[in-house]
Amino acid sequence: MPVALITGASRGLGRAAARALARRSWSLVVDARREDDLADAMQGLPDVVAIAGDVTSSGHRADLAAAVRRLGRLDVLINNASSLGPSPLPPLRRYELGELRRVYEANVLAPLALIQLLADQLEAAGGAVINVSSDAAVEAYPGWGGYGSSKAALDQLTAVLAAEESGLRCYAFDPGDMRTDMHQQAFPGEDISDRPEPESVVPALLRLIDERPPSGRYRAADLAIESADAVKSPEKVQS
Ligand SMILES: NC(=O)c1ccc[n+]([C@@H]2O[C@H](COP(=O)([O-])OP(=O)(O)OC[C@H]3O[C@@H](n4cnc5c(N)ncnc54)[C@H](OP(=O)(O)O)[C@@H]3O)[C@@H](O)[C@H]2O)c1
Repeated sequence: MPVALITGASRGLGRAAARALARRSWSLVVDARREDDLADAMQGLPDVVAIAGDVTSSGHRADLAAAVRRLGRLDVLINNASSLGPSPLPPLRRYELGELRRVYEANVLAPLALIQLLADQLEAAGGAVINVSSDAAVEAYPGWGGYGSSKAALDQLTAVLAAEESGLRCYAFDPGDMRTDMHQQAFPGEDISDRPEPESVVPALLRLIDERPPSGRYRAADLAIESADAVKSPEKVQS
């Protein structure tokens, strides 16, 4: 039975991905900081190891890796948990550096740390890393300098990893806008009901998992296009 580790699975895209893979009888290791929310989100899913904790904690990451090792394999690592930073989003000239450091800890260092811990298991399974990115990594939106630059770093880290690791598929996955808590945090007080539900992005994510196109950066909107050409032409192909 294939195994996925999904961070940030108690709501939003992480929960939608977990449910989709569970429906396919995958075994899952998942986390989120709030234990009750995580338990509620995973209720009824048959084969889930849910470990509450913060991805920025090395001890918690070690617990996740240990759970994966007990399952004996890892096919996909989805680095999904992420920090937006302060809300409302501050301009860079006033960005508190301690806050920025925490954003980078969650969005850059924690994903790399999990990759470092689990690369051997992923390689043994011919596996894939999916680092969840954002259009803020490539577009310069005012206010998005902290989060956006962290996702740009995550993109580059993914691209270099792909160049270094011929035995792994390495994807930066840009889901596009989704109606989630994080999106509401980014637009406080605004009506975001026109944004698509995170479940709408899952078919694109599954396409990466099923078809294993070349490593690179992929947008959900492109993967959702039926033409196979979209999969053969990522924005940045590394291997
Ligand atoms: N929503 C959008 O429009 C949008 C657009 C582009 C990219 N993205 C990206 O898509 C991914 C999913 O976002 P989302 O909108 O689905 O977010 P979300 O609904 O806010 O869910 C975030 C999930 O991550 C968990 N989490 C957050 N920080 C964590 C930490 N330090 N350690 C462990 N778990 C943590 C949360 O649970 P706890 O709070 O209990 O920890 C929750 O389960 C993120 O990488 C985000 O950057 C989102």
